[in-house]
Amino acid sequence: MRVFITRGIPQEGIDILISGGVEVDVFPHDRQPTKEEIIEGVRDADALISLLTDSIDAEVIDAGKNLKVIGNYAVGYNNIDVDYARKKGIVVVNTPGVLTDATADLTMALILAASRRVLEGDRFVREGKFRGWEPMLLLGLELNGAVLGIIGAGRIGQAVARRARAFGMKILYYSRTRKLEFESEINAEFADLDTLLGRSDIISVHVPLTAETRHLLGRREFEIVKPGAIIVNTSRGEVIDESALIDALKSGRVSAAALDVFYNEPYVNPELLSMRNVVLTPHIGSATRKTRVNMARMVCSDVLRVLRGEEPLNRVV
Ligand code: NAP
Ligand code: GLV
Ligand code: GLV
Repeated sequence: MRVFITRGIPQEGIDILISGGVEVDVFPHDRQPTKEEIIEGVRDADALISLLTDSIDAEVIDAGKNLKVIGNYAVGYNNIDVDYARKKGIVVVNTPGVLTDATADLTMALILAASRRVLEGDRFVREGKFRGWEPMLLLGLELNGAVLGIIGAGRIGQAVARRARAFGMKILYYSRTRKLEFESEINAEFADLDTLLGRSDIISVHVPLTAETRHLLGRREFEIVKPGAIIVNTSRGEVIDESALIDALKSGRVSAAALDVFYNEPYVNPELLSMRNVVLTPHIGSATRKTRVNMARMVCSDVLRVLRGEEPLNRVV
């Protein structure tokens, strides 16, 4: 059995495959492989471990003549044509849960950075503009008593809500299904999308990218957000119509944004780069050492299970 991994991942995961008697072939360069290189790697592999930056489409899947399982080193799997994999009887697994806390922590960091203008303050100091404490310097939004609107109350959305609750925020949420336990646990209130947009001081997006969630926040939505709202996105760039967000930032309807994900990564729109009230991070939601090791263990164990003919724990299809 042979596994192709499109990039080096923590050894703790690779060791699981090796002790399972699997031959491991890791893409040897410290960069994203091209499509041709993925096709080459997958050609005689029984399993593929991919990153969210790899597009695993029908052509790649077809190239893997012996392919039995695709393990995505991520919880989001919008980079994989799962319908095609299903049709071909190829199992797809991902890494849910182990990255929830890390991603929720980063979301809180973004919420705090945007609401308290941390990066503007940092720049201000570095530019030598700090002349001492001032009554009206860099005033921001106080989290205690402010309303947080969570869009997509799954694992990460709920983990963010719990953290925000500890800061004294009022939680509104919109999701496909109501979550009664979550509502009673932290006093969260279910709202339809438009109500949430109109009432939230901060809006944080946690839905997966699917055909239904693409541009979930677009021009119409930015016209009905509460004036001065802050937008936080750690889900996928395409869930937000980026040019509509940029226009809402320009008009002031949206007062600030904090983004860990972008439309066409690694491209970042120059208009976003030029705005001081926009906080930008390079898709690092799950980027803690502990989480990345756990993701590697999780995906490698599940791939091994499938190769042994066992049922995986985190099957997507
Ligand atoms: P999850 O537990 O599946 O939560 C997603 C939630 O979105 C679910 O509760 C689901 O609804 C809701 N949802 C799905 N489609 C919807 C729709 N059309 N309208 C309204 N709600 C919808 O996933 P998760 O583990 O929290 O991860 C969420 C996403 O975060 C991932 O898919 C990934 O794209 C992103 N992510 C990013 C990073 C990063 O580095 N920035 C790290 C990890 C994950 P119901 O439960 O209500 O049915
Ligand atoms: C990261 O974005 C993930 O989906 O795991
Ligand atoms: C601020 O530093 C204060 O002491 O109020």
